[in-house]
Amino acid sequence: MLSLKGKIVLITGLGQTTDEGWGIGAAIAVQFARQGAFIFGGNRSLSSANRTKNRIEEEGGVCDVVETDVTSSKSVKSLVEQCVQKYGRIDILVNNVGRSEPGCPASMSEEIWNAQVDINLNSLYLTCHHVLPVMEKQDTGGVVVNIASIAGLRYIGKPQVAYSATKAAIMQFTKATAIIYADKRIRLNTVVPGLIYTPYTRALAQRYSPGGDEEAYMKKRDGQVPMGRMGDAWDVAKAALFLASDEASYITGQKIVVDGGITASTGRV
Ligand SMILES: NC(=O)c1ccc[n+]([C@@H]2O[C@H](COP(=O)([O-])OP(=O)(O)OC[C@H]3O[C@@H](n4cnc5c(N)ncnc54)[C@H](OP(=O)(O)O)[C@@H]3O)[C@@H](O)[C@H]2O)c1
Repeated sequence: MLSLKGKIVLITGLGQTTDEGWGIGAAIAVQFARQGAFIFGGNRSLSSANRTKNRIEEEGGVCDVVETDVTSSKSVKSLVEQCVQKYGRIDILVNNVGRSEPGCPASMSEEIWNAQVDINLNSLYLTCHHVLPVMEKQDTGGVVVNIASIAGLRYIGKPQVAYSATKAAIMQFTKATAIIYADKRIRLNTVVPGLIYTPYTRALAQRYSPGGDEEAYMKKRDGQVPMGRMGDAWDVAKAALFLASDEASYITGQKIVVDGGITASTGRV
């Protein structure tokens, strides 16, 4: 069950920014490698990417990493070409890179707005633009898993309008593209994480915590979840694994929400 034996996986943002904990992209890469996949990852900094590569290789897995900026067409094209040059195919694409910037339309600068659209949404267009034609030529087609956020489904307590809008757009991009490719043996689905504990969350805590109290920020996030705790990167990785696997072969254009119940709830009263 859930074997990815011999599958070639191209993943963006697999870097692990610190030695502590797990980022979502890093956990997906490690989880997929454990299921037998060969990982080919693009990440902004090689030092982060190498942390994940080392973790995979220590377990006997295979991982190549390439310095990549997912907002640059040239850089994404080169990433895809290097993967195809090495393996001759791409079976699974995981679009994981994303980040949030605070602000509402009035307070957010045009630069930040455009940068948010670039990193969260244009990046998906760029990888799909270069990878879907490769998958289409393959007898076995391919699978795309995109990482959105519940901020694309709900207001989750802080103004981050560009993040919300771009994460919502990812879900619709996925649905529309899934239908276009449904008869071409290519499936596209979205994983929608809720509040997840990652090194990036720790960085957000430093940025947003009232009076510098990071633990209070973390406790507040735990308290927002009906299950009483944030999820972790593995919760997201397991959902991504299911969607990428042959066990999900009749599922396309869908999303799996991994949020401990937040979006099913009307909120704490
Ligand atoms: N954490 C949460 O609570 C949460 C909740 C919902 C959704 N998500 C989504 O899950 C995804 C991963 O989040 P995370 O918390 O695991 O983030 P993360 O730990 O910061 O990992 C993101 C990775 O992306 C890389 N990256 C950033 N900009 C890039 C660029 N322009 N080109 C290539 N790589 C780039 C980073 O590289 P560097 O190491 O060089 O910085 C980092 O390795 C994001 O799409 C996020 O929106 C997260």
